Amino acid sequence: MTQAERPTVIVALNLAADLKDKIAQTCEVHMVPLGKPLDEHVPADVRAKAVGILTTALTPIKAPVFAAFPQLRVSSNMAVGYDNVDVGAASASKVVICNTPGVLDAAVADVCMAFILNLARKTFELERFARDGSWTKGSPPLSMDVAGKTLGLLGMGRIGKVLARRARAFDMNVVYHNRKHDQEAEQAGLASYVGRDELFSQSDFVSVHIPLTPETKGSIGAREFGLMKPSAYFINTARGTVVDEEALIAALKDGKIAGAGLDVMAKEPLDPANPLTSLPNVILQPHIGSGTVETRRAMIELAVDNLLDAVAGRQPKAMVNPEVWDAVAQKAAK
Ligand code: DGY
Repeated sequence: MTQAERPTVIVALNLAADLKDKIAQTCEVHMVPLGKPLDEHVPADVRAKAVGILTTALTPIKAPVFAAFPQLRVSSNMAVGYDNVDVGAASASKVVICNTPGVLDAAVADVCMAFILNLARKTFELERFARDGSWTKGSPPLSMDVAGKTLGLLGMGRIGKVLARRARAFDMNVVYHNRKHDQEAEQAGLASYVGRDELFSQSDFVSVHIPLTPETKGSIGAREFGLMKPSAYFINTARGTVVDEEALIAALKDGKIAGAGLDVMAKEPLDPANPLTSLPNVILQPHIGSGTVETRRAMIELAVDNLLDAVAGRQPKAMVNPEVWDAVAQKAAK
């Protein structure tokens, strides 16, 4: 293959040298800074020939991109979530969208379990107590057992199931609500199905595991927080905007719920002036649920393989819109 015939791909994330070399063995690589709009940051001559894009969930992959990249066959997202992508527009343009399911479940479930344990055992409050001299003035507050408490999973996908296993190992009861019953999880004794309202009203910890879609946007609000016990905690490692954040802040301030563990917020990066930052009953993280060295490496390897497979006309491992694959493979064969 001559230099001129090598397919051009856009890489809009930070890539380890070995993976950049792997892509460069068969493709011309055009690097773009993280999160920048590709239709504005890629020169017209590169846009005209690019067949693949590798991004994080920070880069919008919507109608302007499909219009600006006429040869595009694949956009590979290094994330399991793909709310940065207009999948309908991608399918209409015969572009396959890939993501990274399966490799980050344990890392995200660990963060949920860490939130549960830290909120129940008041780890951060007690750490401050031991450090700031409060201990010399009085007794520390008592915390709460997790054993025997109920974890409610809103959404029972891969991450929900791994979290259910962890919670069961801590002797918690696990209930879930999902569009469909998960017979396998129920038969394995992992979790029992409850209605959506029951999930909010029965749980001591509610953990969110639903994708962000037009239907789920803002779907957890004042009504749901009103159903929760005042002693219950809310955990979100999915997407910030599935929650009405103002309603969450009000529920936390008014004692409608006991506290929250949040890896995701409505607007990221979080503004230091956001009231969440000054609430003592909230643990915050900077959207880093999948952020271990091992998991991030597995995600980027899968995202690179998805990109290279699709560009070469081999079916990628993880496709969001597999129905367009035949059309994409035909484009690759030309
Ligand atoms: C994911 O994989 O969806 C993570 O939340 C990173 O965006």
